[in-house]
Amino acid sequence: MKLEIKDLWASIDGQMILKGVNLTVPAGEFHAIMGPNGNGKSTLVKVIAGAPEYTVERGEVLYDGQNVLEMEPDERARKGLYLAFQYPVEIPGVTVANFLRLAIQARTGQEVQFMEFYAKLQKALAILDWDESWVNRYLNQGFSGGEKKRNEILQMLMLEPGFALMDETDSGLDIDALKVVANGVNAMRSANFSALMITHYNRLLEFIVPDMVHIMVDGRIVKSGDKELAIELEANGYEPIKLIAAQHPAPDFNAAD
Ligand SMILES: Nc1ncnc2c1ncn2[C@@H]1O[C@H](COP(=O)(O)OP(=O)(O)OP(=O)(O)O)[C@@H](O)[C@H]1O
Ligand SMILES: [Mg+2]
Repeated sequence: MKLEIKDLWASIDGQMILKGVNLTVPAGEFHAIMGPNGNGKSTLVKVIAGAPEYTVERGEVLYDGQNVLEMEPDERARKGLYLAFQYPVEIPGVTVANFLRLAIQARTGQEVQFMEFYAKLQKALAILDWDESWVNRYLNQGFSGGEKKRNEILQMLMLEPGFALMDETDSGLDIDALKVVANGVNAMRSANFSALMITHYNRLLEFIVPDMVHIMVDGRIVKSGDKELAIELEANGYEPIKLIAAQHPAPDFNAAD
């Protein structure tokens, strides 16, 4: 599904972090966001997820034409938004399998049929080259960094969202796990699915080829391009882009319209 972020401004503790983000991911496309540390990438994910500590000052996020920011956080998931955080939380006492079943139930509003669930699970585990015993583990408890990330892709494959926003899903993955995770994301490619991936390195984008790459500096997108932009960044670093961003600072919130 198409996701449109329009002039999004958001703050935390009186500090403006997002300063007019504009970004559209058409249905069927994969886009990437890159950018230096501490410039608002994870904030964007948390604001779209409806994290209560952030204040949306202005703007909208349209998913399939509906304003996500007006929905309750659980409604966002039910509508088919999948948001994977930079630091996945541990849920003691809930197994991966039970969590998946409950999450699918919440998403579809229907009782999950065991055989159907099991068949889908087998397929997803096969894509991820993962042993079935994993689903009996407690969610994220004691999972290694890479296992947490792989588990996020398992959740995505099972939930079949219309849009996924992934924050550094590649961080901490070894080279084999990176390919496995990329396989999972690539398996989702369809006309009804779109994704936005936050990453620091081009490595992920060699396996999941993005339709567009956007650079975020100081809470807004300062440059967009095709996959070559990520290669260029790897070669030149952010200094040239920071210079461009400094020459075109964010407008004053109160002065902008
Ligand atoms: N409670 C807060 N008060 C003030 N500033 C905050 C608060 N929480 C986060 N920030 C700041 O918001 C900015 C954006 O943080 P964010 O996590 O979105 O960065 P990021 O682009 O995801 O960075 P990274 O690449 O390191 O993950 C940072 O400068 C951070 O310190
Ligand atoms: Mg971050």
